Amino acid sequence: MTAPAANGDQDREVLRMEGITLRFDHITALDRVDFALRGGETCIIQGAAGSGKTVLLKIALGLIRPDEGHIYIFGKEMTGAHEQDWMEARAAMGILFQEGGLFDSMTIEENVAYPLENIKAVHCPRNEVRPRVEQALQFVELGHTLEKVPSELSGGMRRRVGIARAVVTRPQLVLYDSPTAGLDPITATTIMALVAKERDTRHTATALATHRYQDGHLLANYTWDAAQARLVRSLGGGSAARTRFLVMADGRKVFEGSQDELESSTDEYISQFARRWKE
Ligand SMILES: Nc1ncnc2c1ncn2[C@@H]1O[C@H](COP(=O)(O)OP(=O)(O)OP(=O)(O)O)[C@@H](O)[C@H]1O
Ligand SMILES: [Mg+2]
Repeated sequence: MTAPAANGDQDREVLRMEGITLRFDHITALDRVDFALRGGETCIIQGAAGSGKTVLLKIALGLIRPDEGHIYIFGKEMTGAHEQDWMEARAAMGILFQEGGLFDSMTIEENVAYPLENIKAVHCPRNEVRPRVEQALQFVELGHTLEKVPSELSGGMRRRVGIARAVVTRPQLVLYDSPTAGLDPITATTIMALVAKERDTRHTATALATHRYQDGHLLANYTWDAAQARLVRSLGGGSAARTRFLVMADGRKVFEGSQDELESSTDEYISQFARRWKE
């Protein structure tokens, strides 16, 4: 499979799921979910604990196979694909796992190098691994931590290492599973600034599961300004127009729309995920 050559490939279909159903024994974790993401788009996935956010992201990566439905990655049907094809597809996708997913026994350098050295389809020559790892760690402002192990870093720093590992392969699509969970508000904003920085400097399609409405609000209304090295309010609705909100309930997609549409919802469950923010 050939992934698009450049991330600037806006509007190209990156991911599409149709009628995805996933069952675990007596639980229907996903119930006929449709989901699509195009180049340059951001999708914020909200919903109560256990509503299916993580399993949806894991299905997008081929880490869990659905019981029913179809999945397409960069336009290619992956339903029932062999692991080898999924490995190739994953070369163009990055993930920040909900629990961070760093290997405790490896150094930070080894952790970030892992996808470069283990996903064959990434094709990273040996002598380029170290510079790529350094660059990814500098991106998250942790260039000085190469020799440390995860337990020597704070929770927020470990999350940043997770982002470095998710983007080190320069993916077209990055999936973030609850990147701000359990962090203080200041550290959470730092993490979200990195998510926006990755999205806006490399034009990656972004899917982000979160419990915090502020996270979606930030991605819909702010843009990373490289010259000022900070987030600035988006002009002309640029990010908002390319940001969709999705709300899950008991494995079903119960809402999909813009931030305005989410905030206008009168549904008791959905409106809980749409706290209006005064600025
Ligand atoms: N490996 C598994 N075995 C059995 N059930 C599972 C497994 N993984 C997930 N589930 C179930 O699938 C449902 C969806 O779980 P999921 O982890 O996607 O929820 P979530 O929306 O990510 O929740 P949270 O906000 O707590 O992260 C839950 O009922 C969960 O118990
Ligand atoms: Mg989860």
